[in-house]
Amino acid sequence: MAKTPASASAMSGRQYISEATRKGTEEPSPNQEMLPLTARVNSRDCLEIGGCDVQELVKQFGSPLYILDEETLRTACRQYREALKRYYPGKASAIYASKAWNCLAVCAIAASEGLGIDVASGGELYTAIKAGVRGENLYFHGNNKSRAELDLAVETGCTIMVDNWLELETLAEMVASCDSPIKIMVRLTPGIECHTHEYIRTGHLDSKFGFDPNQLDRVFASISKQSGLECIGLHAHIGSQIFELQPHEDLAEVMVDWLVKADSYGLPTRILDVGGGLGIRYVETDDPPSIDAWVKTVSEAIVRACKEREWPLPELMCEPGRSLIGTACCTAYRIGGRKEIPDMRTYLAVDGGMSDNARPITYGSVYRAVVANRMSEDCTETVTIAGKHCESGDILIKEAPVPATQPGDILVTMGTGAYNYSMASNYNRLTRPAAVLVSDGVAKTILERETYEDLIRGDRLPEGLGSGLSN
Ligand code: LLP
Repeated sequence: MAKTPASASAMSGRQYISEATRKGTEEPSPNQEMLPLTARVNSRDCLEIGGCDVQELVKQFGSPLYILDEETLRTACRQYREALKRYYPGKASAIYASKAWNCLAVCAIAASEGLGIDVASGGELYTAIKAGVRGENLYFHGNNKSRAELDLAVETGCTIMVDNWLELETLAEMVASCDSPIKIMVRLTPGIECHTHEYIRTGHLDSKFGFDPNQLDRVFASISKQSGLECIGLHAHIGSQIFELQPHEDLAEVMVDWLVKADSYGLPTRILDVGGGLGIRYVETDDPPSIDAWVKTVSEAIVRACKEREWPLPELMCEPGRSLIGTACCTAYRIGGRKEIPDMRTYLAVDGGMSDNARPITYGSVYRAVVANRMSEDCTETVTIAGKHCESGDILIKEAPVPATQPGDILVTMGTGAYNYSMASNYNRLTRPAAVLVSDGVAKTILERETYEDLIRGDRLPEGLGSGLSN
């Protein structure tokens, strides 16, 4: 089938397919693209991802549909791995922050690329275990882990990212009944500001996460008295969807200072986990650094900070989520009704919305879309893409340039791999979409579409309540 990798963007009247980020023979950094790396326009004028025609995918699997491109996800994993090897002279690894998208298949892919998995709840931990990830490759986060979650984590042998005093006390109690020490890392709030939405900023001092660094001595002193707790590392995460590199340079300085202090308490701290945060390109004007550039900056900053303090290099760990999986997925919707308000706005409704992508209504996040079955048609109007929920704010894209469309056309929003499925809900009792993994022209279901039966699976009608209603 003839394939034409078009390069024009919606800005020039053409629909977006791929910006000229593919310089020379250099492999693109997935987070700098808007569509998955395998996106093409095929001879039927349709968008194709992973060799699969998106319109055919919708026919086969229904809509809305999350379409996850295996190649893009694996490329991002590999780029983190290779860049760490290239730029960091010590031991280094990336772990996947699975809160971005936690399900069996995604955990299995990340693990098969040699990444550990960061989980943030018992449910994410359970999923990762069921995907076959071994405890030694699991890292458990959360600011209010329950006793049951901690029990599961300890049983699994994963590393617990200790967030607060209560958790430290609970673990200290738990060690009494453990045969081997519990591996922990300490999460601290570094007091570093960065430019991102306030809800996804976590490094500033006024944050619910992590220990206050002003209590560092107390924290380390307390841990050093617990022989059953093996403090293998220190952790910080400054926020998400960050385009600046400077905050991560600053973080390196702060964290190496912590490391020096931990040593003075005799703790066996050998890992610095700098968190995640690298942003992705949702719209043409977004300009995140590449994975390579981010890893280089972080690595060099740690090497520099250690050299200045004449301190041996720690093991470096990072926890990317969005930049690993964000660009690998697109969401396909069927276009439904149209409402034109003269001199004001035209709404195009799609068959999903805030239940499959909560980011626009939650953070005011901006997305771009293409009409997958009309790829060569010029954009002739700017419309507002509305979801189907009973909520005025259920708008996926405020201003979307699109060609002339018909009901039934396929609208594809880009960059939906991170925090879309993982934040999906059943609002208005919509069933959550299916997800397919595409590669080499083959699509495999990784998440079944929910059914109405799924929706009422946990519902219970106390005796007497349902009687007589059908009369
Ligand atoms: N490590 C920790 C401890 C985190 O809390 C997070 C994200 C990450 C790593 C991964 O960060 P990333 O590389 O994805 O930026 N729901 C929000 C994002 C919340 C991020 C939460 N923590 C959104 O949709 O933008």
